[in-house]
Amino acid sequence: MPATVLVGTQWGDEGKGKVTDLISGEFDCVCRYQGGANAGHTVIANGHKFGLHQVPSGVMYEGVTPVIGNGCIVDPKILLEEIDMLEGQGVSCAMLKISGNAHIVMPYHMDLDGANERRLGKNLIGTTHRGVGPCYQDKDARIGLRIQDMLDEKIFRQKLEAALVEKNAILEKVYEMPTYTVDQICEEYLPYADRLKPYIVESSKLLNEMLDDGDNILFEGAQATMLDIDHGTYPFVTSSNCTAGGAITGSGVGPTNIDRVLGIAKAYLTRVGSGPFPTELAQGDEIGERLCEVGHEYGVTTGRKRRCGWYDAVVVNYAARVNGLTDLAITKLDVLGCLDTIKVCTAYECDGVRYTTVPEHQSVFYHAKPVYVEMPGWKCDISGCRNFYDLPREAKDYLDLIEQLSDVRVSIVAVGPDREQTINRHWK
Ligand code: IMP
Repeated sequence: MPATVLVGTQWGDEGKGKVTDLISGEFDCVCRYQGGANAGHTVIANGHKFGLHQVPSGVMYEGVTPVIGNGCIVDPKILLEEIDMLEGQGVSCAMLKISGNAHIVMPYHMDLDGANERRLGKNLIGTTHRGVGPCYQDKDARIGLRIQDMLDEKIFRQKLEAALVEKNAILEKVYEMPTYTVDQICEEYLPYADRLKPYIVESSKLLNEMLDDGDNILFEGAQATMLDIDHGTYPFVTSSNCTAGGAITGSGVGPTNIDRVLGIAKAYLTRVGSGPFPTELAQGDEIGERLCEVGHEYGVTTGRKRRCGWYDAVVVNYAARVNGLTDLAITKLDVLGCLDTIKVCTAYECDGVRYTTVPEHQSVFYHAKPVYVEMPGWKCDISGCRNFYDLPREAKDYLDLIEQLSDVRVSIVAVGPDREQTINRHWK
């Protein structure tokens, strides 16, 4: 069992933080491979609730090395605040490692993220305003600054100066916004560098050495399959590869090391931000409101109310394909205990054609009408169940249907937010 990838199968907020936290103890290292402070992983441990954005969830376990891989982007201010928060709560970050090749989120990335959204008007993406798109844009344009650049003031200044020529022109001429000077940014960022220095490593080397030593690595994905830049609902996606393939490029570990891919799926569906969502319950729909309320469906990063809908087996099926899932973890099953009947989308219909996988053409996806099967609810509290056989028959049937439709075994079931509120069926 050398390396496992954990990915979201829907539009994010599936409860990846809880599952990562739950299984982290089995691993020697937990590595994040993409995304930045746009992620919001909620972990509840020892009675405390932690909202993590940059630090891998594995930090909660002693003896686990948390790594921020090269595919991530790092907002040094947010990262340092998070380290201070964790240390303040008695969680040591001494083992944390940050790839020198990860890119740095700069203040102008935040400005441009907001400005871009304003420019898009009603077509806005609904980003987290954490500068994610503009930072990855600079990475691809080869004018980004990397964590290792912070280690050398001369290089940092040179690269920043080159980047600012373009960034300031856009800020000033396109958006009529204030510009930046090199000194201004250095004044803020160089002290961050002093604090981050002890954590910076060549992470690909470190991870491969760990594998050579027989250590197990968990690759922790952020966001999710349908937000992946290549495989998601483009352009309403994030700017990185959230799918399992991203774990390879975002860490510098070869694909032959990965032998398990665990997909996380919420027992119903949520989405924040804009974009298509075939099984969405209309604004104000009584069931949607109930799911939102009982499931506390508000973003960890932005506090936004999440759009709620029914479980979409077409989406999870697609996630099984593009990630090569070996196992599924179904989260928040307990939340559905508030409903009389539960719907599962098994296919879409569009212009008389039936689709059992996500249609390639975006217009079809936009107009897709879900085909549902309706099942009886269990109408009781299952948060105390710790064994599959303790679950009411209706809940077992629901899980069996999910398994059947995705052709992936359901190995873990979460029935509440705490670590202990979990059913381990097949996860070893
Ligand atoms: P960005 O990643 O901030 O650029 O936002 C792009 C899209 O991804 C928006 O629809 C966001 O709401 C969504 N998004 C980004 N991070 C998360 C997350 O951690 N959970 C759910 N949605 C996210």
